Amino acid sequence: MKQVKEATVDLKSGKSPKTTADYAKYFQAPSLKDAKQRGKEEVRVHYDFTIADDMKEIGKGKRYHVRTYGCQMNEHDSETISGILEQMGYASTDNVEDADVVLFNTCAIRENAEDKVFGELGNMKRIKNNNPNLILGVCGCMSQEEKVVSKILKSYQQVDLVFGTHNIHRLPELLREAIYSKEMVIEVWSKEGDIVENMPKIREGNTKAWVNIMYGCDKFCTYCIVPYTRGKERSRRPEDVIAEVRDLARQGFKEIMLLGQNVNAYGKDFEDITYGFGDLLDEIRKIDIPRIRFTTSHPRDFDDHLIEVLSKGGNLVEQIHLPVQSGSSEVLKRMARKYSREHYLELVRKIKAAIPNVSLSTDIIVGFPGETDEQFEDTLSLVEEVRYDFAYTFIYSPREGTPAAGMEDNVPMEVKKERLYRLNEALARIGLEQNKKLEGSVQEVLVEGVSKNNDKVLAGRTRTNKLVHFVGDESIIGQYVHVRIDEAKTWTLHGEIVTKVEV
Ligand code: SAH
Ligand code: SF4
Ligand code: F3S
Repeated sequence: MKQVKEATVDLKSGKSPKTTADYAKYFQAPSLKDAKQRGKEEVRVHYDFTIADDMKEIGKGKRYHVRTYGCQMNEHDSETISGILEQMGYASTDNVEDADVVLFNTCAIRENAEDKVFGELGNMKRIKNNNPNLILGVCGCMSQEEKVVSKILKSYQQVDLVFGTHNIHRLPELLREAIYSKEMVIEVWSKEGDIVENMPKIREGNTKAWVNIMYGCDKFCTYCIVPYTRGKERSRRPEDVIAEVRDLARQGFKEIMLLGQNVNAYGKDFEDITYGFGDLLDEIRKIDIPRIRFTTSHPRDFDDHLIEVLSKGGNLVEQIHLPVQSGSSEVLKRMARKYSREHYLELVRKIKAAIPNVSLSTDIIVGFPGETDEQFEDTLSLVEEVRYDFAYTFIYSPREGTPAAGMEDNVPMEVKKERLYRLNEALARIGLEQNKKLEGSVQEVLVEGVSKNNDKVLAGRTRTNKLVHFVGDESIIGQYVHVRIDEAKTWTLHGEIVTKVEV
């Protein structure tokens, strides 16, 4: 617990603290309002990330545990956080009870994501009581919200450190402050910072790797918190992305996932060069790495040049995640997605014509404020028309500070649940029909590991990212094999190895 007696002056307000919640050392508190601003400031790229000498040994003999919630961007940020901690001498542990530093890298996308984090933070109280020297930190998208930080200050005094998505490179200094300070240390920059290259990373596994190509989002879909928690769109320089992919290829990685909230907007922020996502993929496809994927593509910026590059195939796999959100042009308008149902279907038609056997997946929100039965039926009919292999589906969750949170919502929760159920049923039926088409075919599969439910069975993925189970020896993990598909289920394929493939 924090020492309540040792009063210091609150750095933010300059006032002496009066309540327990005042006992925080604020370097900077979050503000969603400030996060909304999109300034013209130049984004600088820093190549000089280093850890101060006095912090290099601080974790020697100590352990850390990072728990990640949310999207792949967050997973990848956790790899950077782990990299920084290991350069400070910490070793990782899976067990929070053993850890000297525990960090929760959080997600703010829906209310239930946040509830989960608060539940786990509550559980940490007991662990902190048993181990008072433990440093408990909260980072990621939730820490960008002022209401979350106030709640932590008020009710979660077991937390020692809160830092934002733009402050990851500051972790060594912030950790030092948290270790030596009696107060909760809070540093959340609301405005995005510069791009910091060369931060260390501890990647999970040695087969698949994530590579950020851009940060932030400028789309401001009316339901979404991400543009506020991740700041404005900033693209990494092409030479830095390419150098990282080349390096991963040299290290023997087999698959790269390029990451951005809206990868199709890549390069739009460059002022000195005209260079877009299609150009980047056209260069990356020449690197000797067997599979390149990317996520997420916004339908609006998916241009013909990109389709043309993707149609070259090779290591650019025939799988595209193309979130539609709704099949109703009316709802799309209120979501500010800036495309119509017709535009989306036309894009799908072009993609299917250019890329044979392409596998499409999507994200869909049901129960957006004011969504009528008819508008929901439009979503169902779009799903039938596109025939997705897979979809993430959600019930709309209001996010404070976003425009949709202020829209009148007359759709009862029961109706939203019923819509989600019907949508998922349609998707499962179509998913099975799509998979059935693969029965009898031979697929190239990257062997990823042992199946979660049966240690005699291996699990791998096709180029289209479908999960395949088959019997095989663990020694082939990380390699490519050919698998004949004998049985298709709704979300998995089952088969038998026919030959090993050299890729
Ligand atoms: N940048 C990606 C999406 C990132 S968020 C894109 O635009 O495609 C992942 C998904 O979460 C979104 O596609 C959307 O379907 C869902 N989502 C975002 N905000 C939501 C909210 N307030 N309620 C429910 N689902 C939401
Ligand atoms: Fe959110 Fe829209 Fe940006 Fe995706 S494109 S992160 S849904 S605002
Ligand atoms: Fe969640 Fe932030 Fe990702 S809100 S979905 S972790 S960008």
